Amino acid sequence: MSQPTIPPTKILVAEDESNLRLVIQKELQRLGHEVAAAPDGEAALRLLEEGAVDVLLCDINMPRLDGMELLRRVHQRPNPPEVIMLTGVASVETAIEAMKLGAYDYLSKPYRINELDALVKQAAEKRRLRVDNQRLRAQLARQSETPEIVYVSAAMREVMRLVERVAPSDASVLISGESGTGKELIAQAIHRLSQRADNSFIDLNCAAIQETLLESELFGYESGAFSGAKARKLGLFELADRGTLFLDEVTELPPPLQSKLLRAIETRSFYRVGAVRKVQVDVRIVAATNRDLNTVLADGSFRSDLLYRINGFQIALPALRERPEDIEPLARHLLNQLSGTHPPELTPEALAALTAYDWPGNVRHLRNCLERATLLANDGRITIAELPPETVRRSPAHATTPSTALNYGAGVTPDPADNEAFVPPSLREAERQQILAALEQTGWHRGKTAEMLGISSSTLYRRLRDYNLDRHQ
Ligand SMILES: Nc1ncnc2c1ncn2[C@@H]1O[C@H](COP(=O)(O)OP(=O)(O)OP(=O)(O)O)[C@@H](O)[C@H]1O
Ligand SMILES: [Mg+2]
Repeated sequence: MSQPTIPPTKILVAEDESNLRLVIQKELQRLGHEVAAAPDGEAALRLLEEGAVDVLLCDINMPRLDGMELLRRVHQRPNPPEVIMLTGVASVETAIEAMKLGAYDYLSKPYRINELDALVKQAAEKRRLRVDNQRLRAQLARQSETPEIVYVSAAMREVMRLVERVAPSDASVLISGESGTGKELIAQAIHRLSQRADNSFIDLNCAAIQETLLESELFGYESGAFSGAKARKLGLFELADRGTLFLDEVTELPPPLQSKLLRAIETRSFYRVGAVRKVQVDVRIVAATNRDLNTVLADGSFRSDLLYRINGFQIALPALRERPEDIEPLARHLLNQLSGTHPPELTPEALAALTAYDWPGNVRHLRNCLERATLLANDGRITIAELPPETVRRSPAHATTPSTALNYGAGVTPDPADNEAFVPPSLREAERQQILAALEQTGWHRGKTAEMLGISSSTLYRRLRDYNLDRHQ
């Protein structure tokens, strides 16, 4: 195995005396460091904004912003560099004050460059340890908050085999499956099991953002790109650099953005809105859709070349009704999740009803149903009485009519994303009214509305658009 190479230490010298500044810069560069320089505290702060600095060498008496104030400001920022104060002989007391403010050390003038070099190396080492430590802690936190994927069925075993196989590669993955089958969970698992796990997992719901905002959301913008663009903003594509970009409901992407996305994926680069220079990125794409791919290709709403790009590897999640053996372990897992240490008991009849039901809204539907049942259960037991009637009455044999889009009242309705085509106009109108009523009730709070209706927020967004209810953006 090759030794990991330690990148050069990035140093910033803040020193107002220009000769001295130049000498320090040149000498430290000669010793292999990467050195930037600033003539005063304000200039130093600006440089710190622009890029990562490991060690800041800071003179105390400087115009505009002096060394002590610079030190204070630096320590208000996240992840500050280590600071070494360079002091005149007379200001040793100030230097001690600086140590109290969190400086790594101080060096009194005159000093030898070797002394400075040794101190810089120690400070850089301390910072590296601090950063590693933070990263490890973040990783641990991520692992402990990583949701568990529960299954016993052969179909899900096969899905997980594919996930483990594809995760370590950089291949794009398209996850398909009905609403609520766990597509997002699988996308997170792919990221976690990849080499990119330490970097970001960035999630964009292509159906949830207004078309006009989507481009700047995805690619960012330069200051002045349009009125209101006061400062540069990085887009999700750039934030996902070295990590994974999860494009949820990718088939809802408007056509102009489909071509921009395709170009970005192919060239691994893109322009921020209003920019003249390209940004290079290294991003792995994981996308998800609950639409039938042949349909979106046939009706021309999705570009086939983009589909082939992101479809390097396809994972199709089976509907819950196709793997009824997963229902019991999932129900127990979800009950634990919902009620912590004292989950209610499921009576055998209730369990039998859950297992026999066809779950049009899949795992999310099951979860909503159990959440409601937990609230209703009064002696710590979930019986048939606490289950919504449709789960009890309908048997799998006659449970295939996809017409249950309206029954929102109990908050446990199937997520009807795939059934649009079957809903006759009068039903659509009734559904529109129901959504409108819920929106009014929650003051147009979409999260609460979706919750109230028992549907996923992505389905709600889609419906808002279908029914032209998205004017309250
Ligand atoms: N195998 C599983 N084990 C544990 N929890 C699961 C499993 N599958 C799904 N869930 C849970 O079910 C809920 C829905 O899953 P998720 O959001 O991943 O579905 P989705 O396919 O992305 O749905 P949508 O298309 O509506 O966005 C989540 O709370 C998720 O944690
Ligand atoms: Mg989802």
